[in-house]
Amino acid sequence: MKIPFSPPYIDDDVKREVLDTLDSGWITSGPKVLALEKLVAEQTGVPHVACCNSATSGLMLLLHWYGVTRGDEVIIPAYTYAATALVVMHLGAKPVLLDCGPDFNMDAAQLRKKITANTKVIMPVDIAGWPCDYNQINEIINEPEVKSRFKPATSNQQQLGRIMILADAAHSIGAIYDGNQMGHGADFTVFSFHAVKNVTTAEGGAMCMNLPHGFDNATIYKTLKLWSLNGQTKDALAKTQGAGWKYDIVYPGFKMNMPDVCAAIGLAQLRKYQTVILPERRRVFNEYVALFSKYEWAHLPPQDTDDKKSSYHLFALRINGITESQRDQMIDHITATGVSVNVHFQPLPLLTIFRDRGYLMSDYPIAYDSYAREISLPIYPELDSTKIDFIVKAVVSAYHLIH
Ligand SMILES: Cc1ncc(COP(=O)(O)O)c(C=O)c1O
Repeated sequence: MKIPFSPPYIDDDVKREVLDTLDSGWITSGPKVLALEKLVAEQTGVPHVACCNSATSGLMLLLHWYGVTRGDEVIIPAYTYAATALVVMHLGAKPVLLDCGPDFNMDAAQLRKKITANTKVIMPVDIAGWPCDYNQINEIINEPEVKSRFKPATSNQQQLGRIMILADAAHSIGAIYDGNQMGHGADFTVFSFHAVKNVTTAEGGAMCMNLPHGFDNATIYKTLKLWSLNGQTKDALAKTQGAGWKYDIVYPGFKMNMPDVCAAIGLAQLRKYQTVILPERRRVFNEYVALFSKYEWAHLPPQDTDDKKSSYHLFALRINGITESQRDQMIDHITATGVSVNVHFQPLPLLTIFRDRGYLMSDYPIAYDSYAREISLPIYPELDSTKIDFIVKAVVSAYHLIH
């Protein structure tokens, strides 16, 4: 049986919405993007949401909005996808890495010792869709001693008066933390709509704005939209309306806007995300948990609690008592059965660009241990019990083959 790792969810509603866009005569940023932003806002309960062409772009725009620049430090987990760090580097700032805890997420208890007078932002990442400890992170950055070390250099930094929390929620749309949908635990929360994500626009991202009182989130929305479209005062659609063709460029902006033809895919998916797609991912997750829990060697991913509910983006299984090369052998055996699996993630210090900058894997032992024993299994609505059974048997026999 051939089981792909993460095919996009494309049903008749998605096709209809895309066709409707193609037939409309307008395929780049326009009404579908606005409808997607509105729906994300409704589902998360965060009133201001701006879409862009990737989570990477969204994270970079928001660091730029906060004035992050050369000499600044941004604390990120060592256990994440490289984009979390690259956006910091693009602005000339330094990513400061934090080891993860047993749940793959940044170990908030170790945060204090990484904060310096140069720290401007903390970027927690909800690995696999499991929410970080946002209350703990908020408490730490609001401690008087931590606040007193903060050196504001821009008007936004002056106004916030503390380290900003920018959640890399690339995996966690629909996850719940402390009774709220993702989007409420950080100053900004960025979702990814990349092709393998729970909700996709092929490529895309959404920035959710949740700054404290005193900030005008509606104005920030307009700023971010302007900056994501070359700093141009009128988008292409507005320029086609009537006599008002004339536009101005008022900021050296970027080209990071989401096209309508992409937004259409996400719009149709998001309409059934809470009622169909997410519950189906939960079903697959729970079936794996039930089937693997009888094996002592299976280290299951974190499971829902009263405070935290996952978005079930990845089923990140770890195997107890194996080495990295045994994990790779297991992956070879599993792949040979027709099941596609993956590893999330190679901690940053294992990658050339970070190793060359002096980051040492030995400084992040939990991240290495998690990576070395990790295998991500397929998780998506189309997996029925027969397929799940097949996948679990492939993992079990791979385990026995290396022992
Ligand atoms: C943790 C994490 N952050 C950021 C990104 C970047 O998302 P995008 O591809 O939408 O730019 C990804 C994408 O896989 C990711 O896994």
